[in-house]
Amino acid sequence: MFTNKLSKLLTKLLRTQPKYITASVSPASAAPDLMLPPDRLPAHVAIIMDGNGRWAQQRGLPRSAGHAAGTEALRDIIRASDDWGVQALSLYAFSTENWARSKDEVNALMGLLLKYFNSEIDELDEKNVCIRILGDVDGLPEPQRDAVNRAMERTRDNTGLKLNIALNYGGHAELIRAAQALAVKVVAGEMKPEEITNEAFEAELYTAGLPPVDLLIRTSGEVRTSNFLPWQTAYAEMIFDPVLWPDYDRAHYLKNLREYAARDRRFGGVKSAETEPTKETTEGSN
Ligand code: FPP
Repeated sequence: MFTNKLSKLLTKLLRTQPKYITASVSPASAAPDLMLPPDRLPAHVAIIMDGNGRWAQQRGLPRSAGHAAGTEALRDIIRASDDWGVQALSLYAFSTENWARSKDEVNALMGLLLKYFNSEIDELDEKNVCIRILGDVDGLPEPQRDAVNRAMERTRDNTGLKLNIALNYGGHAELIRAAQALAVKVVAGEMKPEEITNEAFEAELYTAGLPPVDLLIRTSGEVRTSNFLPWQTAYAEMIFDPVLWPDYDRAHYLKNLREYAARDRRFGGVKSAETEPTKETTEGSN
């Protein structure tokens, strides 16, 4: 217990932001490939991990083999996010629409999920990672529901990487759930309709308390966001990388972070060097 606390404290100290993030592509290599200034690192990265099926098909393997390979990629990207000081990482693992896949594929995904939580929880907790599930946990089969609830409970007070795994998640369903929660409060007289502000709405989302998504990455070349975090990605930069998810590694991630760092984000305003933002100059830009 004491060793665990000490190790979490050390992890926290080591995560205090250095002047530059020295990112190494290979976990085994000590040589930094890129210096990323921390103010250019996205606080919140969301990833749509697409292409597992095609990866398997290209190799004449069952789709489940693609998901198993995708789980390895996920493992490394979580570690890289933690190593490089990303504050929050949200991964789209299973949508409400994914139940429509074959029984074999759904079972394979549920099996991988259980295996992942059982095998990784010690390391994630040790690294001070805080796990949150985005989505309807109650709609998961009992073993998966128990495993994710245990993981959330165990890591709830951890202060390192916020790792959000979207499971049984749908963006529209999340918005409707938030609207209903607010409507219940209004009907109960706990709040007035005009008190429904951005902040009040965000507080009812699965991502309550997290920063908005800065960077959304989708692999496999598909160019759509598929009902993933529609509210939270309103101002996100988007990168559609052609690589299939099981082939996505630290080198791809670093390349994407580098592209993000080079982008000019304006949030509806104009470049600060050109003019001071005023109401007149911000309207009509994006
Ligand atoms: C999309 O690829 C991927 C998914 C629907 C599942 C993603 C799941 C994992 C990466 C692993 C399991 C997650 C955890 C947390 C252990 P696709 O199957 O739609 O690929 P395709 O478009 O090529 O058919």
